[in-house]
Amino acid sequence: MSEHQDQAPTVGRRSRTALITGASRGIGLETARRLLREDTGVGTVVLVSRSAEDLQEAIAALEPAAPTGTRLLPRVLDVGDLDVLARTARELKEEVGRIDLLVNNAGYTNPVPLQQIRQADFERTMDVNLYAPFTLVQSLLNAGNVFELIVNIASTAGIRGRSGWLTYSASKAALISMSEVMREELAIYGTRVACVSPGRTATALRRVLAPGEDPTTIMQPEDVAEVVAALASPVGRFIDSENIVVRG
Ligand SMILES: NC(=O)c1ccc[n+]([C@@H]2O[C@H](COP(=O)([O-])OP(=O)(O)OC[C@H]3O[C@@H](n4cnc5c(N)ncnc54)[C@H](OP(=O)(O)O)[C@@H]3O)[C@@H](O)[C@H]2O)c1
Repeated sequence: MSEHQDQAPTVGRRSRTALITGASRGIGLETARRLLREDTGVGTVVLVSRSAEDLQEAIAALEPAAPTGTRLLPRVLDVGDLDVLARTARELKEEVGRIDLLVNNAGYTNPVPLQQIRQADFERTMDVNLYAPFTLVQSLLNAGNVFELIVNIASTAGIRGRSGWLTYSASKAALISMSEVMREELAIYGTRVACVSPGRTATALRRVLAPGEDPTTIMQPEDVAEVVAALASPVGRFIDSENIVVRG
């Protein structure tokens, strides 16, 4: 845990808690950085990834701009390990209280032609990209958590399948569909559920999908983070879309 203590400004009431999976780099890290800005009311961010070292680096990068008193809490976890994920969700509810904002962002892809797909790898893709968001939401709901906002990060590949990306496209299509159901079912609790589908964004994951591409020519992770922040802002409740496409 890191409790930020330096001379950065303390601002407003920062009572909201955000949980971001896949927060050590890319879109997740930029979302954490954006949510820590003064206009969001976020005072605690739980950052999840599999690497303790990467999370410490991410927190060290976030701390200088984080207002005094902000809590940055790392959780080392493979979200594809669904039993551990469910247990961690319950523990987090006990430890940090209400999770107001959940950003299901961690993602996995291993693009191979259809003939070479191994069942175990398909299952891994579904575990990380689909069942993990489901497990996190269900476990927290059953622990009594009332979310303000859930953002599921899908992909334009889930709207239109791409050659060579069968498992990834299928998992993201299912995530888009699952988000619609969550949106309808959780509306009675005052919870908003948004699905954000980025197009190509300059991150490590994109390098796996398109190794030869020049990252300076495509959308940056900060751009996607701005959209998530807009959803978490007061105008967010006027953004009425089941699947928000963010494309460069
Ligand atoms: N980049 C694009 O072009 C693009 C386009 C559309 C949608 N997306 C989606 O955007 C989301 C973020 O991707 P990104 O591009 O920002 O990727 P990234 O830069 O590779 O970051 C992925 C993050 O997720 C974490 N992560 C991966 N697998 C995990 C697991 N099993 N458990 C816990 N954490 C895990 C990674 O840390 P560790 O590896 O250390 O765990 C890292 O923090 C993904 O859902 C992706 O599908 C990306």
